[in-house]
Amino acid sequence: MSLKKAFEQYFKMGTSVSRFDMKSDKAMEELVKHYSSMTAENDMKPMFMLDKETCQLNPEKYNLQPAMKYDTARKYLELARDKGIALRGHTLVWHGQTPIWFFKEGFAEDWEAPWASRETMLARMEWFIKNVLTFVQTEYPGVIYAWDVVNEAIEERNEEGWRKRSPWYQSVGEDFVMYAFRFARKYAAPGVKLFYNDYNTFNPFKRNAILNLIVKPLMEEKLIDGIGMQSHLILKEFDADLPEYEKTLETFGATGLEIQSTELDIHNADGSDEGDKQLAEAYKKLFDLYVKVKKEGTANLTCVTFWGMKDDVSWLTGFRKERSYPMLFGDNWEEKEAYRAVIKVAEEA
Ligand code: GLA
Repeated sequence: MSLKKAFEQYFKMGTSVSRFDMKSDKAMEELVKHYSSMTAENDMKPMFMLDKETCQLNPEKYNLQPAMKYDTARKYLELARDKGIALRGHTLVWHGQTPIWFFKEGFAEDWEAPWASRETMLARMEWFIKNVLTFVQTEYPGVIYAWDVVNEAIEERNEEGWRKRSPWYQSVGEDFVMYAFRFARKYAAPGVKLFYNDYNTFNPFKRNAILNLIVKPLMEEKLIDGIGMQSHLILKEFDADLPEYEKTLETFGATGLEIQSTELDIHNADGSDEGDKQLAEAYKKLFDLYVKVKKEGTANLTCVTFWGMKDDVSWLTGFRKERSYPMLFGDNWEEKEAYRAVIKVAEEA
């Protein structure tokens, strides 16, 4: 059985792919077997598309039209095209993995340097989005089916909801999100889906802030097609968070937009059989829910993407500072109990 076949009638199954995965024949074999959607884990983020050397050599020339480079992105576009796997573009406008010099006057490397003006940053944003979309659509038409246009503009620790520390917020202001989607809509090929993507969307404050500050205004201008729920979950908190996660699926689903689970993993520090068993139970509940909302039509869930192909390549071990066993496949690609539980959900649905 394969994941993508098991859930074919409900939604695409996806995985992140890293440059290390690409060097492994086994990973490439598993990619083709199990997944119908893929996302570059890091290599299609702005830091890999902006040409720092060229920009900094001649800041005046590139001030409003930053130099770009696509050598890193090409590998993922070629892989997706050659294997016939739909590619999610991740991500255009984000505070993370976007170099600080991009936001600064004269492309200065320094955090203390003055922000470029709002007008300059809007011009740079439009140029960046236009060039990335034109590049992929000209050279790899049809390969990217969805873009995370904006990633993580909201945070729960700020009472208004905006992530004010973001260099995009600092340099442009809160309407940077609207502009990003306007530019993306302007340059995206027809049929390419535009997503807003964020983490901890089960948090009630974040859910409401995303809906009110981002999704509703974008819907008024018909600029958004989908909402991405990153879904970095934690096993110890899973049962407590699940009801709110369900509520978010329903609330976001009620907008009529597409919903995707874009970066799914469940942090699990217990690599024993007991840990495996608990992880399997959590994944079972989650996939029961995914199938239920899809069947009942409460959310138009179109893809579920795992963030990592197997336990030992997951980012969580580094991030949580303890060994994590969060995925469906073990270090040697063995199918874990969680894998069998997920397949069983499809079989019994
Ligand atoms: C966020 C981003 C992802 C990735 C993860 C951590 O969720 O959207 O691209 O960087 O953090 O791996």
